Amino acid sequence: MQELTIALTKGRLAGQTMSLFEKAGFRCEEMKEDSRKLIFRNEDQKLNFFLSKGPDVPTYVEYGAADIGVVGSDIIMEENRRAYEVLDLGFGKCRMCVCGPREAEELLRHHEMIRVATKYPNIARDYFYNRKHQTVDIIKLNGSVELGPIVQLSDVIVDIVETGSTLRENGLDVLEEVCTLSARLIVNQVSMQMKTQRIRDLILRVRNTLNE
Ligand code: PRP
Repeated sequence: MQELTIALTKGRLAGQTMSLFEKAGFRCEEMKEDSRKLIFRNEDQKLNFFLSKGPDVPTYVEYGAADIGVVGSDIIMEENRRAYEVLDLGFGKCRMCVCGPREAEELLRHHEMIRVATKYPNIARDYFYNRKHQTVDIIKLNGSVELGPIVQLSDVIVDIVETGSTLRENGLDVLEEVCTLSARLIVNQVSMQMKTQRIRDLILRVRNTLNE
C-alpha cells in the first residue's frame, strides 16, 4: 500500500475533518492524545497526518510535502497555489464580505477611492479591481481586522463572516458579499498521477460518507 500524507488546518477544521475521515474509515488514534506533536501516523493504513496553519496547507500540497490537504476555500483563493481542488467538504461554511459602518455604503456605491483593511489582499484586490472596477487602497492586516474602521485605519474591511457576532459587537455591518466559503480537499498534482488508485479511493469514500 502506498503512503499518504495529509495536511490538516489546525483548529476546528482539523477536528471536523478527522470526524469525517473516521466515518469514511480513515482514523488516527495518535491524534486524539493530548500532546504538542505536529505529525501523527496510522501504521496499518499507511497514513500520516500533520497540522499546520491554514495558509501553509496549499504550500505543503503544491510542493508535495503533503499529498492531500484540507483547507478553507478562502485560503485556496488567497494563496493561489498549484493543486487540484477535488471535493467540497460542506463544513466550515462562512462568507467573505465587505463590511464596515453603514455610512460606508455611500463610498462603495460611488466607487470612491477607499481604504480596505484585510487579511486577504489578493481576494480584496480581485474583488475591487476586477469585479467592481473600483480603485482602492488595500491595507494588509494579520487579524482582528474589524478594528480597521473603528480606529479609522480603513473605511471598510474584507473579511470572513460566520455567525456575524464579531461585526455586531463592534457596530459593523455586512455591506457586500464577495463569495461563500467552505472547507475543500486539495490534492498534489504529481501525487494524483503517482498514487491515483489510493487517492481516488479516499476521495470516493469521503464523498460517499458526505452523501450518506
Ligand atoms: C474570524 C474572522 C472574523 C471572525 C468572524 O477571525 O476574521 O473576525 O472570525 O466570525 P463571526 O462572524 O462568527 O464573529 P478569527 O477568529 O479567525 O480571528 P482573527 O480576526 O484574529 O483572525
